Amino acid sequence: MDDLLVDSFGRETTDIRISLTDRCNFDCFYCHNEGLGDTRGPSEPDENEMSTEKVLRVAEVAHGYGIRNFKLTGGEPMLRADLDEIIEGIASLEGTEVSMTTNGTFLPGRATELADAGLERVNVSLDALDSDDFREITQGGVEHVLEGVGAAVEAGLTPLKLNMVMAKPMRPHLPDMVDHASSHEGLRLQIIEYMPELVGDVDYRVDIDEIHGYLDERAETVETREMHARDRYIIDGTVVEIVDPVENAEFCANCHRVRVTHEGELKGCLNRNDDLISTEDASDEELRDAFERVVDNRVPYYGEYMVRNGEGEWVRNPDYVETAET
Ligand code: 5AD
Ligand code: SF4
Repeated sequence: MDDLLVDSFGRETTDIRISLTDRCNFDCFYCHNEGLGDTRGPSEPDENEMSTEKVLRVAEVAHGYGIRNFKLTGGEPMLRADLDEIIEGIASLEGTEVSMTTNGTFLPGRATELADAGLERVNVSLDALDSDDFREITQGGVEHVLEGVGAAVEAGLTPLKLNMVMAKPMRPHLPDMVDHASSHEGLRLQIIEYMPELVGDVDYRVDIDEIHGYLDERAETVETREMHARDRYIIDGTVVEIVDPVENAEFCANCHRVRVTHEGELKGCLNRNDDLISTEDASDEELRDAFERVVDNRVPYYGEYMVRNGEGEWVRNPDYVETAET
């Protein structure tokens, strides 16, 4: 195994998340567009999107640094006409695992070809089952999504995680979503704490402790996974997880990923956009350099690593550095 890149806080880089487009056929009210800000919603192809060749070159460089976990995201990644080719290219690199986060609309009829290309798993965003409420949240239809989930399970893209963002309008749907996941083979439920910081609507925040309490009550087994910053509940034989990054030091401390924007900028943290490194027109050598720099610059967003200085800016916690050096 090649040596992994390690940041100045000791976090190894094992994962990469590549956004293939910021276009999307939905327009979810909460969408943070992979941390870049609000979604552009349905839109025309963006001429700044990475080419197939560029995506694969970035993937090769990442692979050269020992990264094996690849997640393709968007916007909606299935809007890319060259998706099969991208999956095939990454899957052909030794030891890689390729998964994708999608809204599921285009999975019916295409799930099998993606699996054949080398895709192993998908996460499908699903915030509610009721079609009116789903439309209210996403501006799109739930029917194709549910069909897509079925097609993906059929194609073996499992365990398939249903991503449910937990904001106020979704809370009433939680019991149904748990029931849905547990009554269908191959599904898990992943509840994602709503991140208002990136989209601005603080009023929609849900108390995530209350969600933990609800799941705890329903679960036959609860696994506390300290190193993952995630509790895991088994409900009617099905895995239900909560991802709660907001103000969670543990989450940042256990973050092992770098990101690539649809335009090919390298990004060290979901919550920051001040550390983006452009790779436009970069040679392989320059790409490698950019990778090393983005990892070098990685700083946890929440936690004891950082404190606010007199100007209210987040800075490295001097106490932490002392501890680390002794
Ligand atoms: N808060 C939490 N999760 C979000 N996602 C998008 N925007 C937000 C937000 N503001 C999630 C979607 C999608 C995943 C890629 O990111 O559920 O499944
Ligand atoms: Fe954003 Fe995903 Fe919703 Fe599209 S489906 S608008 S990318 S959260």
